[in-house]
Amino acid sequence: MTTDSDFMTRSDTIRIHTDEDFEGMRKAGRIAADCLDMLIPHVQPGVATQALDDLAREFIFDHGALPACVFYRGYQNTVCISPNHVVCHGIPSEKALRDGDIINIDVTCVADGWHGDTSRMYEVGQVAPKAKRLIDVTYEAMRLGLEQIKPGNTFGDIAAAIQRYAEGQRCSVVRDFCGHGLGKVFHDTPNVLHFGKPGTGPVLQKGMFFTVEPMINLGRYEVKVLNDGWTAVTRDKTLSAQCEHSCGVTDDGVELFTASRTGQFRPEPVAG
Ligand code: MF3
Ligand code: CO
Ligand code: CO
Repeated sequence: MTTDSDFMTRSDTIRIHTDEDFEGMRKAGRIAADCLDMLIPHVQPGVATQALDDLAREFIFDHGALPACVFYRGYQNTVCISPNHVVCHGIPSEKALRDGDIINIDVTCVADGWHGDTSRMYEVGQVAPKAKRLIDVTYEAMRLGLEQIKPGNTFGDIAAAIQRYAEGQRCSVVRDFCGHGLGKVFHDTPNVLHFGKPGTGPVLQKGMFFTVEPMINLGRYEVKVLNDGWTAVTRDKTLSAQCEHSCGVTDDGVELFTASRTGQFRPEPVAG
């Protein structure tokens, strides 16, 4: 038997969830995805990233959920906003967005104890072709990774599909950050790598919940974390992009808990 408190700590093995648990994830995922949809018209030159954080926090509370990142390991904001060469975990601030920026916004909310964790890329004003290309490569790598999710395949199959495509496009896959199991725990077993060999790693089973969240760089994959302890940037200062979905393994494929209900996010939900 499990009690609620059993869910609070990282598990030794990959949890297998019930049909009822899928319902919990649908609700959490929907609020997180709707939050990212809500932000679309607000991403404009001159807007401070803290203003976007404020909007996200209010949206989450208004929908009966809680922001999962506030107080998480000392983090103080609702979302992470990572512009240009910031790979992930950018901290919102009073600094304004500029025409031509590309930014990732990553939101995690908790609804009835379940976590919905998702991120997307947004273009600020007019963006250069090479930045658009990086975003396209990142979404396509993600889509190919998600396509591998079904019982019997392995986590290595997801990783290899992402790496093969991204590197084939002369981009690189960040090694130092990965996806994760999630559910009642924010960051649970396993680590979901975005690079690796087909057929390796744990076998996917119905009821596993985890994120896929590749970070793809135009240059080399090395990153460093700034003195604030959070902001990760590319060492070579090249652009980085990321997207993230919370996923559940179904009988014959994957359910994306964080798909945009307004179709404003690539990749489109995959069948299954
Ligand atoms: N949402 C991030 C993830 O995808 C985690 C952010 S933790 C924070 O796992 F504290 F930086 F917000
Ligand atoms: Co995540
Ligand atoms: Co996230």
